[in-house]
Amino acid sequence: MSTAPQNVQAYRASLLHFHADPAFDGDAHAWHEDGLLVVEDGRVKAAGDHDALVGTLPPGVVPHDYRGQLITPGFIDTHLHYPQTDMIASPSEGLLPWLETYTFPTERRFSDPVHARATAEFFLDELLRCGTTTAVVYCTVHPESVEAFFDASEARNLRMVAGKVLMDRHCPDFLRDLEGGVGASAALIEKWHKRGRQLYAITPRFAPTSSDAQLHATAELARSYPDTFIQTHVSENKDECEWVGELHPQARSYLDVYERFGLMRPRALFGHCIWLDDEDFARMAATGSAASVCPTSNLFLGSGLFDFERADGARTLLSLGTDVGAGTSFSMLQTMNEAYKVARLKGSHLPALRMFYLATLGAARAMDLEGTIGSFKPGAEADFVVLDPKSTPLLARRTAQLESLEELLFALALLGDDRAIRATYSGGALVHVRRA
Ligand code: GUN
Ligand code: ZN
Repeated sequence: MSTAPQNVQAYRASLLHFHADPAFDGDAHAWHEDGLLVVEDGRVKAAGDHDALVGTLPPGVVPHDYRGQLITPGFIDTHLHYPQTDMIASPSEGLLPWLETYTFPTERRFSDPVHARATAEFFLDELLRCGTTTAVVYCTVHPESVEAFFDASEARNLRMVAGKVLMDRHCPDFLRDLEGGVGASAALIEKWHKRGRQLYAITPRFAPTSSDAQLHATAELARSYPDTFIQTHVSENKDECEWVGELHPQARSYLDVYERFGLMRPRALFGHCIWLDDEDFARMAATGSAASVCPTSNLFLGSGLFDFERADGARTLLSLGTDVGAGTSFSMLQTMNEAYKVARLKGSHLPALRMFYLATLGAARAMDLEGTIGSFKPGAEADFVVLDPKSTPLLARRTAQLESLEELLFALALLGDDRAIRATYSGGALVHVRRA
């Protein structure tokens, strides 16, 4: 009698994933209405039609039956702050007073490793409840906050990217890098970058809070470790842009400050990008840098509306971020919902297929991780989400009357949230199941 091999699992559901950007390619996605996802040793072995693949399964492997559900690659959130979990939904007149009033006092507590670890655990639970399997995460200036985050992520074998905030001016003394912060960042890179599934992001908070000396040293660090990530904020808020103009009068634009210091390159992720002009978007594309678009945050703080058409005109790499705690939801579905409305207000239409692309393969491309995460290409890590189109009475009613895949995805994006996530898998392991 044969027993099923433990290292192979199969999942029967509708399958959706991407191999190109639907904004530029009419044949960008694969859709298998009655599909089968086959996972071996935590990686995708095959994704296709159930009837074509079921015969290839080793004897004894019985597919998990998720018929009636939709499986997509796990969502990728390219911009958020785990220490800000506790201050989500704190109102303010705009970015700069919000930072002073809520953010800096909240981040102060992350010198305490016990507090940091407890917050990191809650934060990771919340991401997985929302179907997010990879996130690019700001910690605080305290190395302890980074250790706590990676310890928690490594214990769950999640594919996460994070880094220590660098900040040595225009901030409270209790959050200031006293010794430059770059040495501490280098030590964290040596310890954590590519350890298991952990990846490091060099994290200058934003131009106003780093001295020229710190920006120089940060760029040098980024050159020494060319496969690390860089994450920062750019052109989020008009007052902030004006301030940067005063601090760096020689720069052509806010983004140009980063380019002059050598901080634009592949794997550099720039949060917000609201007030960029055409030349800025062209520089983003030319340097392989990527924008992280954060609509719930931008609407919450009243920062502005991202211009998808302008960014696409330059072929800038795009992805979506929640920007918790200025963002108001951990859910990438809710982030799509708000992205759609932002595009609408700019006079353009963002199809649901594009939004699902941006939250999966688009983000993987923005992060130079295509083939590793974000799709069901054979060999990719088996990070995926099971979406339930009947998770609420309203979604069930709406999705009972569908005429197309686009309508199904649009209903999930506009009406869905954490309740639509039936289960989340990371590296082939079940890491979240929705309670009934
Ligand atoms: N700019 C600099 N720091 C921050 C932050 O923590 N959140 C947001 N939204 N913008 C920033
Ligand atoms: Zn942010």
